[in-house]
Amino acid sequence: MSNDIHPEFHRQLGREAKELLLGQRAAVIWLYGLSGSGKSTLAHLLERTLHAEGRATVLLDGDNLRTGLNSGLGFTEEDRRENIRRVAEVAKLFVHSGLITICSFISPYRSLRSLARQVVGEADFLEVYVHATFESCTRRDPKGLYQKAAEGKVAHFTGRDSVFEVPNEPFTGLRIDTEQETKEESLTKLLEAVRPLIAVR
Ligand code: ADX
Repeated sequence: MSNDIHPEFHRQLGREAKELLLGQRAAVIWLYGLSGSGKSTLAHLLERTLHAEGRATVLLDGDNLRTGLNSGLGFTEEDRRENIRRVAEVAKLFVHSGLITICSFISPYRSLRSLARQVVGEADFLEVYVHATFESCTRRDPKGLYQKAAEGKVAHFTGRDSVFEVPNEPFTGLRIDTEQETKEESLTKLLEAVRPLIAVR
């Protein structure tokens, strides 16, 4: 860090004051998985459910952020890392504002998930792996990207030209299987994991 930069975090109004005002504990819920695995759908359902219960939330999504803050980034290893690093830093800012922060990003490498966890902080981070095989994502193909990738028209496509690393066993996070579970079942599992995290202690 440059000698001319003087962060003043200590002078800022604290997170606790903001959580008290909102009547909730802040946390980051980090959903990851292949494109088309269902993470955005789940993220939206989760946000709407919590919002309806009077919780203050924010949703960060790969496709959305890549049209704004991260519009200059592509899908090389380096760019994905910078994408996730920035998102994690933004998520951390939101947590310090008392918000329940839902993140939905492919985050294909274990190192990216570790990075996000490290930036946000262990205690505030719930890792959620949204599983669906490459084959079923190809069948679903909600954005037509799998078809385009098969035609060689998408560079570094995840699961095809670029690796997706499933979590190591034993896995301490939450695993959602969108091939086996209904949307409602997945949402119920997710809510069960999220509720204790955001309850005022
Ligand atoms: S990440 O790998 O850096 O975490 P992110 O979640 O932000 O990815 O963006 C993924 C979204 O970008 C996908 O849902 C898809 O719509 C779009 N996309 C465009 N090109 C690619 C690609 N090469 N690989 C994966 N997703 C891509």
